[in-house]
Amino acid sequence: MKEAVSEACELLRAGEIVALPTETVYGLAADAFNPDAVAKVFAAKERPSFDPLIVHIASRGDLKDVAIVPEDIAETVNKLTNAFWPGPLTLILPKHPDVPDLVTSGLPTVAVRQSAHPVFRAACKELGRPIAAPSANRFGRISPTSASAVVKELGGRIPLIVDAGACAEGVESTIISIEPREGKKPIFRLHRAGPITKEQLQEFGRVEKVREIKTDAPQAPGQLASHYAPLTPLILLEKPADFQPEEGKKYGLLSYTGEDESPYVALHDWEVIESLSPGSGKLAEAAIRLFFVMRQLDEAGLDAIIAEPVSETGLGVAIMDRLRRASAVE
Ligand code: TXA
Ligand code: MG
Repeated sequence: MKEAVSEACELLRAGEIVALPTETVYGLAADAFNPDAVAKVFAAKERPSFDPLIVHIASRGDLKDVAIVPEDIAETVNKLTNAFWPGPLTLILPKHPDVPDLVTSGLPTVAVRQSAHPVFRAACKELGRPIAAPSANRFGRISPTSASAVVKELGGRIPLIVDAGACAEGVESTIISIEPREGKKPIFRLHRAGPITKEQLQEFGRVEKVREIKTDAPQAPGQLASHYAPLTPLILLEKPADFQPEEGKKYGLLSYTGEDESPYVALHDWEVIESLSPGSGKLAEAAIRLFFVMRQLDEAGLDAIIAEPVSETGLGVAIMDRLRRASAVE
């Protein structure tokens, strides 16, 4: 693996882009300080330039190279990074002028995290520069949680994919921004639900939704309704009774546990049933398997994928967020 990391860094130094594993999903990496390399990321993903990238740093000490942490949130940033870095928490902070505008889509802020994946960490360290990396999928599609999924998404478009097996978390990092309050715990605006849960963040601040700002500019696609979408229509079926199958159509079920007793399993003679957490129903396992299972069902030649909801607590919030976006029509 050491050799693969060195090969990746050689390419990154030469302004190329490479797919690297993180603990959440595979990322498409570029030297964050090289705008030409970053432009290749947008091109390979067919990603619109208004959707900013996350910058990954090797150590907490490198935060000062990419962001300027305001005095009034410095203590909170310290607490959060102590508790959750390296790991799946992304902080939106005022950007350092050295970060190219292309990375942040012209925003005055930058999204930063420190990945916990040994391969990604080693690459950041060996490169000696921050790495800009979105998920290694084509724009709007399902995020890749394995190297083979990256091949399906970007094969032939990028010179190297480093394979380190399946990702341990399975859904993308939690993204927050921080609003200080005099004499009170700060407010955390939740830009994207992820592996670091609301319950975990609440120890350090009050978690609230992102305030809707009405502008003509397009919203960042992480917040766009339709995202993480299979090509096969996916319907999030809030209640089993709402299911109205059409004659002759093939339906697959994206089940939580896949248990025979589940009202969803019993609802229909499904073409195929895929379970997020077979038998036991554990949210952590469901998160790890979510994008893999979505991909399986997408490749099963179905007319529609029917998805069963999971409980919206802890990691279930991130899972339901992805299912809702996958089921939204453009
Ligand atoms: O787990 C992850 O976060 C993965 C791995 C590779 O690190 N990365 C990832 O990147 O999911 P991406 O590009 O697929 O999603 C990044 C999200 C986008 O929704 C983008 O709009 C948002 O972060 N974002 C980036 N910079 C932002 C900023 N300055 N303000 C608000 N949102 C931002
Ligand atoms: Mg993405």
